[in-house]
Amino acid sequence: MKVLNKVKLSQAIIGFIIASIRFLWTEDKHIVTTHYTYRSKNLPKSFDGYKIVQVSDFHNAYLGRRSKNLLKAVEAAEPDTIVITGDIVDRRTPYLKRAAVLIEKITEIQQTFYITGNHEAHYKHFNKLYDVIGRSDVRNITKHSAVLERNGEKINLAGINDVWFFGDEVNPKTYRNFQNELTAKVSELPHDFTVLLAHRPELLSIYSKNDVDIVFSGHAHGGQIRLPVVKGLYAPHQGVNPKYTEGMHEQNGTTMVVSRGLGNSRFPFRVFNHPEVVVVELRAEA
Ligand SMILES: [Fe+2]
Repeated sequence: MKVLNKVKLSQAIIGFIIASIRFLWTEDKHIVTTHYTYRSKNLPKSFDGYKIVQVSDFHNAYLGRRSKNLLKAVEAAEPDTIVITGDIVDRRTPYLKRAAVLIEKITEIQQTFYITGNHEAHYKHFNKLYDVIGRSDVRNITKHSAVLERNGEKINLAGINDVWFFGDEVNPKTYRNFQNELTAKVSELPHDFTVLLAHRPELLSIYSKNDVDIVFSGHAHGGQIRLPVVKGLYAPHQGVNPKYTEGMHEQNGTTMVVSRGLGNSRFPFRVFNHPEVVVVELRAEA
């Protein structure tokens, strides 16, 4: 009898472990697409219905062979432009093959623009990554801004390096330099409507000091574990119960879209927080 109970207990434990692994794998690999609508009186009429698709915080994740599942999700969103908002690699992983495949393949869907995240700032193979981007059709806009055009009307697409490229994170001068570069960049843009790519959501107060209409950011990984009341549990540089983990936020006339991202870093799981492709449809208000 005792032997039978032991067998049953072992079976229950094994069953529980298998179910847990399956649950965590699905939470981590099943990509969802989140749709937002952004309305603005400032947007040129030709851009009404224009779709920007955001890929963020890839972290060299496995999302199907040769990132098939991710590329399928991006293509299904029918983007007019794709933006990659940093942490395409993870500084703890020594290889960048998955990121390289993504960079190579994604422009087959639509024009793609890229900025760095904090992981690129501390990435051992940063030069290799920049070689891959340089050889691809992905446009790196950390230094140069771009213009998006539709039916003869134009809007600005600006980008900025992650704040860690400006110095040590504990030094206040780092943030001042970041802010100064952003202000100089935005003030020189030629058109009235500006989209900004900037990795960190916790710096909304800096972005909104400038004439920026909409910012695309990531970095928070949705707070890793999402619960009904608390929402995201923890995010880097925001700590416990972070404010900006997903969705749209507005400050001083600047709207910020926060992607929950696609991969993981030090914390290896996502719970109730599937990898996310974000689609923002721009609408011109009368
Ligand atoms: Fe990040």
